[in-house]
Amino acid sequence: MANPSISSKKRPKHLELWKIRLPVPGIVSILHRVSGAVMFLVLIPVLLAALDGSLASQESFEDLRFQLSGPLVKLVVLGLSWAFAHHALAGVRYLLLDLHIGIDLATTRLWSKAVLVVSGLLTLLVAVALW
Ligand code: HEM
Repeated sequence: MANPSISSKKRPKHLELWKIRLPVPGIVSILHRVSGAVMFLVLIPVLLAALDGSLASQESFEDLRFQLSGPLVKLVVLGLSWAFAHHALAGVRYLLLDLHIGIDLATTRLWSKAVLVVSGLLTLLVAVALW
């Protein structure tokens, strides 16, 4: 039989996503999944197309160079750079966690913030190099 003290509790009928306050490690985790998916769906096709364009002929190489100088393309490159930086840093952190390194709460919070800050700084460096 169901426990009345549990079943009579007022439970939310639906999740109010904007009321969920995710801790920093949770945000890093979601961004790790998002960046992995973005790289798989966008970075790989873009890199393959760029490689193809750079190797096909002198004209296609020049065409590629011209396209890469456009501001919109630079923004896409910047987004993909962030995705790679975040995914790689957060990924190394997960591999360390798998080895039981840095699993206490204080360290996990510190490293999560470090992942966000360092990936942001690396993206800033790419932006400076591009513009
Ligand atoms: C230094 C480079 C990288 C590192 C250290 C790394 C690390 C990891 C780790 C540890 C996971 C598993 C996370 C978990 O246990 O939930 C993972 C997942 C994944 N990675 Fe990477 N990765 C790297 C590069 C890449 C690249 C270049 C791509 C795509 C082109 C990629 C795509 C993915 C995807 C799609 C997942 C699954 C994400 C999910 O569903 O949670 N990764 N990565």
